[in-house]
Amino acid sequence: MSRLIVVSNRVSVPNSQGAAGAQGGLAVALNAALREHRGIWFGWSGQETEEFTGHLDMQRNDDVTTATIDLEPQDIDEYYNGYANRTLWPLFHYRIDLTEYDRSFGEGYQRVNNRFADSVLPLIEPDDLVWVHDYHLLPLGSLLRAKGVTNRIGLFLHTPWPPARLLVSLPNHEQLVTSMLQYDLIGFQTHEWLESFLHYIEKELGLTINPDGSIDYEGRNVQAQAFPIGIDFDEFVEGAQSAAAREAHDRLRASAGDRKMLIGVDRLDYSKGLGERFDSFGRFLTDNPEMAKDVVLLQIAPPSRELVASYQQIRHDLERKAGHINGAHADVAWVPIRYVNRGYPRDELAGFYRAADIGIVTPLRDGMNLVAKEYVAAQDPDNPGVLILSQFAGAALQMADALLVNPHSAEDVSEAIKRALAMPLAERKRRHKALLKSVREENVARWREDFVNALYSKEKVA
Ligand code: ADP
Ligand code: F6P
Repeated sequence: MSRLIVVSNRVSVPNSQGAAGAQGGLAVALNAALREHRGIWFGWSGQETEEFTGHLDMQRNDDVTTATIDLEPQDIDEYYNGYANRTLWPLFHYRIDLTEYDRSFGEGYQRVNNRFADSVLPLIEPDDLVWVHDYHLLPLGSLLRAKGVTNRIGLFLHTPWPPARLLVSLPNHEQLVTSMLQYDLIGFQTHEWLESFLHYIEKELGLTINPDGSIDYEGRNVQAQAFPIGIDFDEFVEGAQSAAAREAHDRLRASAGDRKMLIGVDRLDYSKGLGERFDSFGRFLTDNPEMAKDVVLLQIAPPSRELVASYQQIRHDLERKAGHINGAHADVAWVPIRYVNRGYPRDELAGFYRAADIGIVTPLRDGMNLVAKEYVAAQDPDNPGVLILSQFAGAALQMADALLVNPHSAEDVSEAIKRALAMPLAERKRRHKALLKSVREENVARWREDFVNALYSKEKVA
């Protein structure tokens, strides 16, 4: 069995509960794959250093080795806070109004990708599979090729891929996408993002897509394919039945009394549609005064990417909005929105999900969305809650039994809340059973096995 080298912006060590837990299920899955393949996980330590030295901090846990580098302040500004999160993230989430096109960001992005390539290079042995993750590292494969790496290299993109008409607003977009054609395999979360990518390849690069979805370019054949990511189902269900989860469940239920509870759990990110969600809930309260005091929305939103101005803005906007809605509707014994800016251990989170009658997941655009899957996995099958899910989350393609909504329409979401609150037990059980089946079967182990097997089956080209 080939060894696996995973490369991602950040590295998550086994059993870490990470403050925001943003890599929770993914970290568990990748660590499991790495253990099986006696692999190495390489990336940025998250730490800053005065001057980049390329020093590798190697640590060994079980059969997994992590190797990390520190980056200079200018690298972090231009690569992580710059090109990755001020340019590509908003652009890939269809927000060209928030996208910043600053040349220094592009230069920093290339420089750091090159630093990643130089640093990981000595770790790569001839038969290793190299698996690169996400929008931070799109050109890494081509930089490794330029340094003589002939191994199979795959890329998985966790975000959406934007329509060609938006992508062309990016200076040097051809160069960026062409660099991706040096991978052997490119994975997307859904067919929608895959089609967008292939459309760009045909229309903007003038290349032909082979009947099997692969592309021939400069003597190489790159396969593009959809691999929908899932959660670590068994781990999550086990967590949901733990003492910590039960305690969290009981605490939250006791605090809500007889009220119905909606739960939202998202990084504090403009792509998650939190402002629209608060507005929709406000609309529900206004349109249904007879039910208003019997419901409460718990929104858990740990801060994310705090040095980026658009994230500071969304935080400010949400505080104002929550304050406004609470000011308009609250009374002495009831506040409609509980807005919490912190992370929780995964078991507790599972208990919170189980305590909520409705899971509300309404991103404006999302590569997949694991919270929707976690909510379903955490429910009591004999009395499950209802999932309200944005039609613009990648997860919607697999979760047709949720109440699918347009997150931009406050009326649509408000009506879905009303429908979910009134939904008979038999319908809740029927929908939950179908959702649970897909969440159980299309889990994270299957995702990584499918990706690794597809990468392994690519022919090695010297
Ligand atoms: P994204 O990758 O854009 O953050 P996902 O929904 O795919 O969105 O994944 C988010 C992950 O972060 C989920 O596993 C979720 O449980 C976790 N998470 C989000 N908010 C919190 C929180 N407050 N505490 C702990 N984990 C959180
Ligand atoms: O899913 C998108 C993603 O950027 C992941 O790559 C990352 O682990 C997560 O969101 C959290 O983002 P950050 O590392 O910027 O805090």
